[in-house]
Amino acid sequence: MINIIPMSEENYTQAAAIEAECFNDRPWTAKQFYEELSLDFSRTFIAYYGNQPAGFVNIWLTPPAAIINNIAVCEKYRRKGIASELIKKAVGECKQCSSLSLEVRVSNLPAITLYEKYGFSKVGERKNFYENPVENAYIMTKFMKKECAE
Ligand SMILES: CC(C)(COP(=O)(O)OP(=O)(O)OC[C@H]1O[C@@H](n2cnc3c(N)ncnc32)[C@H](O)[C@@H]1OP(=O)(O)O)[C@@H](O)C(=O)NCCC(=O)NCCS
Repeated sequence: MINIIPMSEENYTQAAAIEAECFNDRPWTAKQFYEELSLDFSRTFIAYYGNQPAGFVNIWLTPPAAIINNIAVCEKYRRKGIASELIKKAVGECKQCSSLSLEVRVSNLPAITLYEKYGFSKVGERKNFYENPVENAYIMTKFMKKECAE
């Protein structure tokens, strides 16, 4: 039922539509998603629920650290395990990295609960990191055992 595929020139506008639905604070535009396609350290995956675009995750792999820039699921597809599958996909991409980090609004309990479920913990806080509304961010990190390259 949940199918996850890499973002491409065919479907990047679907990621932008999900982003626009889910975020008020400087959402990435379709042009920004398109530009991600040409960055060799960037990976974006789109999750389909049946054949409907339902969520996405964008990560940057910059060993030894990796970051999740964004993850979102359309409201009508939430609590079906879609973000969980996207997180697992993101973690699977981080084999050469020893940490995966992200920022999250301190009031965003659904996301904080999700991240804690998958092994992220709060490691710091950024003052007034977000706009619309202004709010602090927690920095959350999942520490991973780096796989040996040989
Ligand atoms: C946070 C978000 C991505 C979760 O997506 P989702 O597909 O609904 O998450 P899942 O169904 O995989 O949930 C996995 C776990 O996360 C936690 N969780 C998810 N939504 C939750 C909620 N509303 N309240 C409490 N815990 C929640 C639970 O532990 C859940 O496990 P469970 O269903 O077994 O209880 C989604 O709510 C969303 O897109 N929110 C708006 C965008 C956003 O805030 N993105 C994060 C930016 S940092």
